[in-house]
Amino acid sequence: MTELIGLKRELNFSFKKYIFRYIKCFIFMLGYTITSVIFPGLVSLVMDKGVMVGDYHSTIVYISIFLIIGIMMTIFQYLERLSFFKLSQDILIYIKIIVFRKIMDTNLAFWNNHKIGDVMSVVESDISRIESLLTTKLCDAIVNIFVIIGMSIFLIYLNIKIGGLLILIAFIFVAIQRKLGIFIKNNMLILRKSLGDNSSLLNEILNNIQNIQIIGLVVPFIDKYKVSIDNIKDNNIKNTNIVSLSLGVSNLYVIISMLIVLFVGSIEYFRGHLTIGIVLTFLLYAQRLYSPISSICNTFVSIKNISPSISKILDILKNENIIYGGNYYPVTDIQGSLELRAISFKYQLNPDYVFKDFNLKINSGEIIGIIGKNGSGKTTIIKLLAGLCVPEQGIITIDGVDLKKYDLEYLRRQIGYVLQSNYLVSGKLKDILRFGVENEFIDIKDEMIKSFELNISKFSNGWETYINEKSMNISGGELQKISLIRLFSSPKQMYILDEPTSFMDNESEKKVCSKMEELLNNKTAIIITHRPQILHICNRVIDLDAL
Ligand SMILES: Nc1ncnc2c1ncn2[C@@H]1O[C@H](COP(=O)(O)OP(=O)(O)OP(=O)(O)O)[C@@H](O)[C@H]1O
Ligand SMILES: [Mg+2]
Repeated sequence: MTELIGLKRELNFSFKKYIFRYIKCFIFMLGYTITSVIFPGLVSLVMDKGVMVGDYHSTIVYISIFLIIGIMMTIFQYLERLSFFKLSQDILIYIKIIVFRKIMDTNLAFWNNHKIGDVMSVVESDISRIESLLTTKLCDAIVNIFVIIGMSIFLIYLNIKIGGLLILIAFIFVAIQRKLGIFIKNNMLILRKSLGDNSSLLNEILNNIQNIQIIGLVVPFIDKYKVSIDNIKDNNIKNTNIVSLSLGVSNLYVIISMLIVLFVGSIEYFRGHLTIGIVLTFLLYAQRLYSPISSICNTFVSIKNISPSISKILDILKNENIIYGGNYYPVTDIQGSLELRAISFKYQLNPDYVFKDFNLKINSGEIIGIIGKNGSGKTTIIKLLAGLCVPEQGIITIDGVDLKKYDLEYLRRQIGYVLQSNYLVSGKLKDILRFGVENEFIDIKDEMIKSFELNISKFSNGWETYINEKSMNISGGELQKISLIRLFSSPKQMYILDEPTSFMDNESEKKVCSKMEELLNNKTAIIITHRPQILHICNRVIDLDAL
């Protein structure tokens, strides 16, 4: 419960916002509760006040009341379920968006400690389970508490002995279920971990399927996948075992309670303390008592089950490994001067410093080439500039202002990136170029496409061609050309390019370089490269190995 309260605080969730909808649900729930409590009791009226005394007219009247109450019960149940479902969907979206936003802000350190599959499971299943607890399950439990209280009063009123016994064994039953809930919670923790691991593995395999096929890792990965799903199977069986045991206990309750009604009811009937109609009513109630009680028990089990999900969500919501931004939002575009002053940096899980007391100054309008051996820290500069990681010491400034002070959205709109691990969103070619940059987008002229040596007619469907995730249906060079066209079709003041031409043929690279030289005129640019051709367009070249 304390976890749930913590979650409510982290999510900034206010029941007040949804209060009217909760009230609406509650009214339907109350209608259902009252009708479902009255409903079985009408059997004794039909039997004892109608059939047994041979009153034809009363029998018809009581059967009609029975029918009306039955229909009302059904309608209330329908309205209750529907309104709860709508409410739960809104709450689900509310929670998902908050968690998703938080994930989108995570920095590199977060991903050092979290598996992708685990985070996917949070968004896909953990949140849904919390939502169902916060709405339907919790409210169902409230309805059922009402139902049980209503029925208990009625049963004790009908016959204190049978009623009391039924209620007593109901409590014993709940106690047993609570004990089982503890086992379920522990097992669920293990199951949750194996599901996350499997999701990570699947994600890795599907994202790299073609590489895996080519380098001959198909069989080892099938084996690895089999071990992973075997592990889930074992944990699932353990879990189902306890859940089935808990169901068995529920059934046992029904059997015992009916046995009590039949046994004590018969004795009470022989003694003339009870009518057949009331014994019949008791039998119906004994069965009906089962569903609300087992539902409450399921809620207990769910609360236990849900605890690993809550801690996973809390882990993301409380995570402080995020990209921090400030609120400095200049009215004009940046000029483009950049300075890295006395920077020291090492990665969290790596003891070696990538930079120690590193200095770099770039003036506005300058094109700088950065070269250096593999692992010398070229790409790390980009990560530092994008705020994915933070220097241990030193300061990074743009136009003389500390990078940390800038509004993140502002900075992201001002600087254009092309990354070494070239990434292109999926979608139709014509849409990809505009995605996320609609406001700044300038019409792409055929001349631009030509200058970047991109032959659209080579694609199966021209501009309509669908580029899939991981851009697997285009070549490496084409991907780089499309990325550059996309970059320059929403002009920026500053560009940072990591190996932008590494996959291009010599001829293409030459033409692309001369076009880039034209487009980068008066702009600030950092070009990281191992290719000599592109260095010709740079005003200055910095060799990280020579520092
Ligand atoms: N996430 C990370 N965690 C730990 N160490 C890292 C991480 N990313 C990079 N490194 C290490 O930091 C060093 C600098 O890496 P970086 O990617 O900046 O090199 P690079 O100069 O871009 O190399 P390349 O020419 O191969 O692209 C390398 O030694 C690398 O192993
Ligand atoms: Mg690199």
